[in-house]
Amino acid sequence: MKNFLTSETGLQKVLIPQNRLQERVSELGHEISQAFDGKDLAIVAILKGSFVFAADLLRAVNIECSIDFMGISSYAGQPGSGVVRITKDLDESIAGRNVLLVEDIIDTGLTANYLLHTLKQRKPASIDVCALLDKSARRLIDLPIPYRGFEIPDVFVVGYGMDYQQLYRNLPHIAILQFNNGQNASQDAIESDQAGGKSVS
Ligand code: IMP
Repeated sequence: MKNFLTSETGLQKVLIPQNRLQERVSELGHEISQAFDGKDLAIVAILKGSFVFAADLLRAVNIECSIDFMGISSYAGQPGSGVVRITKDLDESIAGRNVLLVEDIIDTGLTANYLLHTLKQRKPASIDVCALLDKSARRLIDLPIPYRGFEIPDVFVVGYGMDYQQLYRNLPHIAILQFNNGQNASQDAIESDQAGGKSVS
């Protein structure tokens, strides 16, 4: 079996190493703890891509909070529409609570925009976005991201929970997915799969 974590195939180039992820997640946890101190914080993590980030972020937050998960997938035939199918809904009500929506990556912004719209209908006291990665060059919708890990260039990334065709989620770092011909994975992969961040290039 090929061990892609150590292989020299050139399939992945590290964009953000594990130690930088840990540092930044810890900073985000600190910022969130200060901002929501004394408030009823409900963290909502979007599956599957954010599960590793959410698990680390949760442990970096040192105030009382709950965590719940929402599973989504893109509607086949509507790539890039931002309309998503909810495959697993929240277990608890968010009415009257301060919601922090935790996403792996904001690309066009359509998915997060749709989720914000959907969750606002459930009458939370407030709702904010926390995204590990921001690919702002591809943004189609203006979206405030008060808690942002890293700004990244327009490349397809995998690892730390993020996948390409359900693979590579177990990489401990963020890697750029490259084909053997040296091209980055096409943006079609994204379509079919469904303030302050540090810049990475
Ligand atoms: P958006 O609706 O275009 O902002 O897309 C957001 C979703 O697309 C993310 O939650 C990811 O699931 C997926 N996505 C976007 N870019 C990447 C990437 O570079 N790698 C892996 N998934 C991505």
